[in-house]
Amino acid sequence: MSQAPSPAPRVLSGIQPSGVLHLGNYFGAIAQHIALQDRYPGEAFYFIADYHALTTLRNPEALRQNVFDAAVTYLALGLDPAKSLLFRQSDIPEVHELAWLLACVTGVGLMERATSYKDKIAQGIKPNAGLFNYPLLMAADILIYDGTLVPVGKDQLQHVEFAQDMSTYLNEAYAAGGPPLLVRPEAILGSAPIVPGNDGRKMSKSYSNFLPLFESGKKLRKLVGQIVTDSTPLGQPLSPDTCNVYALLKLLSDEAELAQIAEWYRAGARDGQPFGYGHAKVLLADKIDAHFAPARARREHLLQHPDEVEAILRASAERARPIARATIDRCRRAVGLV
Ligand code: TRP
Repeated sequence: MSQAPSPAPRVLSGIQPSGVLHLGNYFGAIAQHIALQDRYPGEAFYFIADYHALTTLRNPEALRQNVFDAAVTYLALGLDPAKSLLFRQSDIPEVHELAWLLACVTGVGLMERATSYKDKIAQGIKPNAGLFNYPLLMAADILIYDGTLVPVGKDQLQHVEFAQDMSTYLNEAYAAGGPPLLVRPEAILGSAPIVPGNDGRKMSKSYSNFLPLFESGKKLRKLVGQIVTDSTPLGQPLSPDTCNVYALLKLLSDEAELAQIAEWYRAGARDGQPFGYGHAKVLLADKIDAHFAPARARREHLLQHPDEVEAILRASAERARPIARATIDRCRRAVGLV
């Protein structure tokens, strides 16, 4: 019987096509995804989870636009198609066949323990069966490409554990005692920093407290200006460690710069002049502007050349599909479909 290939490290993760991406997404996930392509060149698989998006989005135009935007964002920020794959989940329909095979060996009890599903219900979302089955599709996403390393945020950890469980269920049902059919994946929990939003809560689209990634100039300054600080008067010492502006400056500064900025905060002065939150905000806006300038330029180019984006998505899907096909063929034989 054919078996899963021996697990050479292969990084794999799904990207939610959820519209505007912000600084929290960048420091929380995108930067890590892009860094991994240098550690595992040729073995970094990223796909845009458009099937998953259908669990909550019923607007075809918005879905197409969000998928395109997610692709442009990753490419602009440095995803290199020579090192990584970037494809649409739905370009590999085999993933549904594996999801079904997993469904048939997975207890409903496990599915009912999914915290993300329970959270969504608690938020008042009326669940469809797609939302309930979300973890099966996500497990299939991972297992179909023999993905071994799955970079995710904490909120997705349980889903990766489900994928581990489901790989075991299929292996035990159909390959017990023999070589496994599916490779067991491991989550990589990045050391993602907490990125505060304008109101100090975690930066999130659902709190509308975010700084969009590609904003610049006046608009960016206006948004940065809205970051909440305390009311210490200008010229008084400020505490960097409790300041939302400083928390963001931290993400964009090297150690020496940061030490310097902390000094200005504690002194409430810079070069003999008063230093207050307004000055810190100017500093922050300048840094964001400069940091993402190359990405903004690449993004402008890609927006003008959607055909280039499409070609990258297609070429990646062409490389991913035979891998998915091999997994499905192996599983079809094992379960008795062929
Ligand atoms: N559920 C993930 C999220 O919300 C996206 C995702 C879909 C994913 N399929 C995946 C992540 C497979 C890792 C592996 O962010």
